[in-house]
Amino acid sequence: MGKVEVGAVEQFEEGKPCGVRAGDRDLVIVKRGEKYFAVRDACPHQGAKLSTGQLTGDVAPCRPGEQAELIRDGDFLACPWHGWKVDVRSGCSNIEPERVRVRSYPVSVDDGRVYVEMEN
Ligand code: FES
Repeated sequence: MGKVEVGAVEQFEEGKPCGVRAGDRDLVIVKRGEKYFAVRDACPHQGAKLSTGQLTGDVAPCRPGEQAELIRDGDFLACPWHGWKVDVRSGCSNIEPERVRVRSYPVSVDDGRVYVEMEN
C-alpha cells in the first residue's frame, strides 16, 4: 500500500487525538510538537476507539505511601472505556508492553500533508 495521505497538517491539533481512515484501516494520529505518530484506532483490550480517548502520561514506579509522579505526559492514549494506556510512539501498552500492543505506523510530512507508511 505504501504511503497514504491522511490530511493536511492544519487538521491535527497538538494534544488532540484524531481518528483517520488510511486504506482499509482506522488509525489515530497524534501530533506532539513537530512530530506525528500513528497507531491502530482499536484498544488492545476490547477494541474501543482510542481516538475518542485522551492523551495522558504514565505513573512512575513508586513505593506504598510515596507520592505518585506522572511521567511522559502526553505520550499515552488513555482508552475511554476502561482506561488502558497505549504509548503513541510505539503502540505498546504501559502494563505489558511486549505482549499487549497495537500496531504503530511511521508518519511523515511533505509539503504540508501528513502521510502514513502502511504495510504492503
Ligand atoms: S476497551 Fe480499552 S481499556 Fe477496555
